[in-house]
Amino acid sequence: MADVTAEEEAQVFLSVAGSEAMTPLSQARIPVLDRGFIFGDGVYEVVPAYRRVPFRLNQHLARLSRSLNAIGIVNPYDIDGWKARIAQLIAGSANDDQLVYMQVTRGVAKRAHAFPLGIQPTVFMMTNPLVLPSAAQHAGGVVVVTAIDNRWLRCDIKSVSLLGNVLMAENAAANDATETVMFRDGFLTEASSSNVWVVKGGTLYAPPKDEKILEGIRYGLIAELAQRIGIALSVRKIAREEVESADELMLSSATKEILPVTIIDKKKVGDGKPGPVYRKLFAAYQEAKAESFAAGTQGNPR
Ligand SMILES: Cc1ncc(COP(=O)(O)O)c(C=O)c1O
Repeated sequence: MADVTAEEEAQVFLSVAGSEAMTPLSQARIPVLDRGFIFGDGVYEVVPAYRRVPFRLNQHLARLSRSLNAIGIVNPYDIDGWKARIAQLIAGSANDDQLVYMQVTRGVAKRAHAFPLGIQPTVFMMTNPLVLPSAAQHAGGVVVVTAIDNRWLRCDIKSVSLLGNVLMAENAAANDATETVMFRDGFLTEASSSNVWVVKGGTLYAPPKDEKILEGIRYGLIAELAQRIGIALSVRKIAREEVESADELMLSSATKEILPVTIIDKKKVGDGKPGPVYRKLFAAYQEAKAESFAAGTQGNPR
C-alpha cells in the first residue's frame, strides 16, 4: 500500500443519514447514490481561518443558509452547531492558518431528479493549510484571460455544481493565467472563483450583486474597507471596454484575499503595475485580519 500522507491522515467531519463522525480523510466514505455525487445537488462554503480564528464566519454561515434556502435543503445545524463543529475541526489540525471547506448535499436516495422525501442532508467538512498568493504575485500582479460567461443564471447560489467554473478555471490554466474574467451580454460578471474589481479615476467599481455573480464574502468586506479608508465605490453594470481600459483591476476571494491583475488578454492593465487603490485595500484587509484575530471574533473587522 502507498504511504499515507499527512493530508490523507487529517481528520475530516462527515455526517451521512444523520450519523456524524470525525474520520481520517483516507477513510471517509459517502454512498455513491449521494445526490451531491449524482446530481451536484448541494452547496458549499470556503472559510479562511487566520491563526485558528475563522475570518468573517458569521457572514459565511449566513451565505450558507441563503444557498441552502435557495435549493430547499433544511439547514442541518444552527449557527452554534456549525461553530462548534468548525472549532473542533480547526483544533484538530496542525496548521495555524487554515482553509475550512464545508459542503451540504441533499442526501442519499434512489436516483430520481425531483427532491426525495424524508432524507437527511450529507455534511462534509475538511480543513487544509491556507496557501495565500506569493509575494511575487502581489508585487507584480497576475495575468487573466477573458471569456463569455456561459454558466447558469443562479450564480448567487454557492452550488457544488461547478462544471462551468471548472471549465473557466481550466481555460485560465491552459493560458498560463490565474483567472478567466467573464462577461455576459458585454458586461462584467466575475471570474471562475473570484469577484472582480475595477478602478478608474480613483473610483472603485463592482458589478451589482444579483443572480449573475456569487456575492463573495470579500465583496461585502471590500465595500466596508473602501468606505473606511475613503475610496469611492460605485456598484453598477461595467462594460467590457471599461474593464479593458481600467487603471487597475483586482480579484478577491477567500484564498486570493485581494490580488492585483496587471495583464488582461495579453495587454497591460493601466501602467502594468499594481496600483494605489489595490495597495490601500490590501493594507486595510491585513488590518481587518489582525483586528479579527485580536478580538478573537468571527464577525466584523471592527
Ligand atoms: C464564482 C466565485 N465568485 C466569487 C468568489 C469569491 O467569494 P469569497 O470572497 O467568499 O471567497 C468565489 C470564491 O470561491 C467564487 O467561486
